[in-house]
Amino acid sequence: MAFKARGSENLEKILERPYPFDAVDAVKEKAVAKHGAGFIIDFGIGDPSDETPEEIREQCKKAVDARKTSGYPESIGSTEFREAVCSWMKKRSNVFLSKEEVIATYGAKYACFHIPLVFLNPNRGEVALIPNPGYPPYSDGTMLAGGKPYYLNILPENGFLPSFDSIPSETAKNARILFLSSPHSPTGQMYGKEKLQEAVDFCNDNNVILVSDECYNELFFGERPLSILEIANAEQCSIVLNSLSKRSMMTGYAVGFAASKNKDLLHAFEAVTRKSVQGVPSFIQDAAVAAWRDEAHCEKMRAEYSARIDALLPALKQLGCKVEKPAGTFYLWVEVPDGKTPMQLSEQLLVEKGINTVPGNLISHTFNGINPGEHFLRFAMVQSIEKTKEAAERLLK
Ligand SMILES: Cc1ncc(COP(=O)(O)O)c(C=O)c1O
Repeated sequence: MAFKARGSENLEKILERPYPFDAVDAVKEKAVAKHGAGFIIDFGIGDPSDETPEEIREQCKKAVDARKTSGYPESIGSTEFREAVCSWMKKRSNVFLSKEEVIATYGAKYACFHIPLVFLNPNRGEVALIPNPGYPPYSDGTMLAGGKPYYLNILPENGFLPSFDSIPSETAKNARILFLSSPHSPTGQMYGKEKLQEAVDFCNDNNVILVSDECYNELFFGERPLSILEIANAEQCSIVLNSLSKRSMMTGYAVGFAASKNKDLLHAFEAVTRKSVQGVPSFIQDAAVAAWRDEAHCEKMRAEYSARIDALLPALKQLGCKVEKPAGTFYLWVEVPDGKTPMQLSEQLLVEKGINTVPGNLISHTFNGINPGEHFLRFAMVQSIEKTKEAAERLLK
């Protein structure tokens, strides 16, 4: 009999859900066969095509040579790394953190996925409250942990923000984690001070850990997004996650941090991190220090994304799509014209015009009979201004 590896029931739940880009990749193959790979303008995956700033790369190279013997890195992050994060949080948000309140992570994805494994008790039917659409590791981590995802549908009629009032009291009682990202990926909507206060109050009232994924909070086009630690009474219930992937175009470095004023919360996550992985490589921590200390590249990056968005929006509107400039992130959450599904429009754009996007329904869950992405396409504005202008021209041809 053939050997068959068995995973847990929780694993099956993750495997049942196809990777959203697989469906698009099949169509992409058709488009590549028709036009050639070089013709495709890819607004699919949210991975910046921009160079990591030179100063950061240089720091990384120097750090490799400075450490002739490699040695295991400090798993919670070097003192210098954690102090650089504290200085940045103070300068950016006027939030005081001590280095004991910060640990280095392999970027935000690692942290988002593992936090449910640390805090959810599957035997008690514990729940994670997850914005829908939202970053997939929130729900994948919850399912692997044996927790129950309860989705907060993000819809235009709610101003693209979750409604905490609509959470049934039984669900609120079993909830242990609330994930938030502001500005929100993929809608680009920002949580204002009042909405964040509502989230904090909800979490304090219901004994829920607020996981504030702030990895897009340097990508904004108007008001500066608030960190959750700028909100009254957030200190005990919150864990902040941040990362240099988007802020400093360092996706390949995979480095970020988790911070909390609540020692018990941070200690629990830190213990699991120390027991499961070695630390972020030292030369990457050193490069990260250079990144946290510099703001000029962030300003440049914001101006660049803003120009790209401005270049594409008019063409999308002329096509009959409903879309506004987002408050932040590099995503456009585009409502497709009536009579078309996002899959149809995505396929048409890819095969006819060589423009790759992600159908919103593939990155949203159907919950309470609604798939909040069923009328939307996501554009990740990660292509150069030249390619973005080219895409705008193709859309109108
Ligand atoms: C909301 C959100 N959080 C986290 C991440 C990933 O962060 P990192 O690259 O630091 O793992 C992404 C990546 O797209 C994201 O959209």
